Amino acid sequence: MTGIAVYPGSFDPCTNGHLDVIRRASRIFDKVVVAVLANSGKTPLFSSEERADMLRDVTREFKNVEVECFSGLLVDFTDKVKADVIIKGLRAVSDFEYEFQMALINRNLKNSLETLFLPTSKEYMFLSSSVVKEIAGYNGNLDGLVPAALIPVIKARFGY
Ligand code: PNS
Repeated sequence: MTGIAVYPGSFDPCTNGHLDVIRRASRIFDKVVVAVLANSGKTPLFSSEERADMLRDVTREFKNVEVECFSGLLVDFTDKVKADVIIKGLRAVSDFEYEFQMALINRNLKNSLETLFLPTSKEYMFLSSSVVKEIAGYNGNLDGLVPAALIPVIKARFGY
């Protein structure tokens, strides 16, 4: 497949599950733009620029992957970067209802936009940014959950 895909998310912080989706998407598309949501209702642990910098650090090996922050509607961001496809990772059936709604809303806003779901690799089914933050908050072991380079950065945010 050719073309440009956007992989949107909060990435607060990015996990090995996110990285797995980015790696697989980068083999399918000419270019993958990882889009870090800046204006979330949630108060993030890391600023959007910090989250983007962490993603740039761990995706450097993928030459067709770029990382940008966005605010506002995702469909407007896809116009800005000329993407035709949104990539989303699906972990379990529980993700499906919300993601299906989002896919339909985005297609309603922009008919030419397709959402492509990539099923998670099985070793990351349980993994989420929230789980990572919970473990880091108690100085738990993050090996295998996030890229090794990010472990000290995440721990430091909790004062460890
Ligand atoms: O990692 P997340 O928090 O599940 O990612 C959610 C994200 C960023 C994909 C979603 O919140 C989003 O697209 N936000 C931008 C606003 C938007 O376009 N919403 C859809 C129409 S209501």
